[in-house]
Amino acid sequence: MCRPCLPTVPADVVIRDATERDLPAISDLSNAMVTTSTIAWTESPETLAQREAWFEHQQVDGNPVLVADLDGTVVGYATYADFRDSHKWPGYRFTIEHTIHVREDHWGRDIGRALLDALIERGRVAGKHVIVAAVDSANVGSIHFHERLGFVEVARMPETGHKFGAWLELVLLQRIIDPGGRR
Ligand SMILES: CC(C)(COP(=O)(O)OP(=O)(O)OC[C@H]1O[C@@H](n2cnc3c(N)ncnc32)[C@H](O)[C@@H]1OP(=O)(O)O)[C@@H](O)C(=O)NCCC(=O)NCCS
Repeated sequence: MCRPCLPTVPADVVIRDATERDLPAISDLSNAMVTTSTIAWTESPETLAQREAWFEHQQVDGNPVLVADLDGTVVGYATYADFRDSHKWPGYRFTIEHTIHVREDHWGRDIGRALLDALIERGRVAGKHVIVAAVDSANVGSIHFHERLGFVEVARMPETGHKFGAWLELVLLQRIIDPGGRR
């Protein structure tokens, strides 16, 4: 089978649903580069309590939270939520936006691909049509990663963010996850 058709998961890694016990590791992953990069558009690391509240919200909304588990250690996570508020604007209900983080000492091992492949499959099963990546334009590695996974750049939005005293540009990439899908 061709590589894009066959989800690849490194042999020692399990992709599974997160539990409350994984939240400190997820929070650490999310905070890892907050103070040193513009990957995440905040200058304040989150608290564990904020992550716990977020997890509860994700469960109520039925949104998946997946982790990459390497011998009992969480080395990555991926999740999605509405692209825009689909309660207020139901027309957006088939479109999701994801977040993905892999621990830096495990980059380049196909863990990001395995997480995103699994997340996209969950989205497809949940009836979603389009997945969106919103990436800081300086995060060229993430842009390349998404392009390798079939995302296409659809917009650049200059000066839509601000961090470390400078304007930031947002790059939007999207992928249709159920080609030909009709509603
Ligand atoms: C982006 C990120 C999730 C990639 O995870 P990863 O596990 O290193 O990626 P993989 O090993 O699964 O790579 C999958 C593909 O993307 C490519 N890729 C990954 N990182 C890349 C980079 N920095 N530059 C170029 N290509 C890259 C790989 O070469 C591979 O392509 P190929 O197999 O077709 O050659 C990871 O670097 C990360 O967590 N970064 C910090 C957080 C972040 O930027 N998240 C996204 C915010 S929008």
